Amino acid sequence: MKVKILGISGSPRKGNTEMMVVESLKAAAEIPDVETDLVDLRGKLSPCIDCDRCPVDPPSQYCAIRDKMDTIYPKLIEADGIILGAPVYFGSVNAQVKAMMDRCRPLGRCGHLLKYKVGGAITVGACRNGGQEKALGTIVDYYILTGILPVGLLRVLQVGAMGLGWRAGMIKDDEWKAEFLPEGKVTWVDQCREIGRTVAVMSRVVKEGMRIVDPNRFITGWKLEREKLGGSEGH
Ligand SMILES: Cc1cc2nc3c(=O)[nH]c(=O)nc-3n(C[C@H](O)[C@H](O)[C@H](O)COP(=O)(O)O)c2cc1C
Repeated sequence: MKVKILGISGSPRKGNTEMMVVESLKAAAEIPDVETDLVDLRGKLSPCIDCDRCPVDPPSQYCAIRDKMDTIYPKLIEADGIILGAPVYFGSVNAQVKAMMDRCRPLGRCGHLLKYKVGGAITVGACRNGGQEKALGTIVDYYILTGILPVGLLRVLQVGAMGLGWRAGMIKDDEWKAEFLPEGKVTWVDQCREIGRTVAVMSRVVKEGMRIVDPNRFITGWKLEREKLGGSEGH
């Protein structure tokens, strides 16, 4: 059974975030039966305006706003695993990444279309402690709130892959000491490769497992609850 891993580079430039996401996808593609795809958030991507016109049944258009999300929705829905990379802007994810997250509201309304995908998080900031952890936490919160199953790094006990770089391309020199690892150091490439492999393997595990246990029999989402309540409006 094939799985698709979608890498999303959230930076408005072709910079460090994209380098990290590409590296994670290369590692994911080494796992058997894994296909990868990359999208970026460059170009027109508007924030959610809470017009409350999100459809409740899968339509041809998910959002009333016409922009880059038109091409991203089908890729998100098709993916079995997602690796979202965000640059740190003022201590958290940048505006493009937050806009994409908020614009996923219709996918929840149409029956939690992101649920049970596997998610990995990547971030890069110019300073060593510039907000990478909070940015990763924001991505993981988005995963939990959309039903995506987050995975992290086990070898170095991190919530996701973290990079250090300012100008586009500067990240290539980043590494830190880790006495507990045989190689004695951790590079951004190691971290990205681990998150890529973990998302790929766990996407296969989840997809195969769902052939045996259908979670929809046991776990109802917002849409099903709403239907039970006779169509009353919710989040
Ligand atoms: C508006 C803005 C705010 C930023 N804020 C932070 C910050 O709070 N902490 C940090 O470490 N780096 C910050 N940076 C630096 C970027 O995170 C860094 O340049 C990163 O490598 C950009 O990723 P990219 O190359 O993928 O665009 C900021 C950059 C911009 C443009």
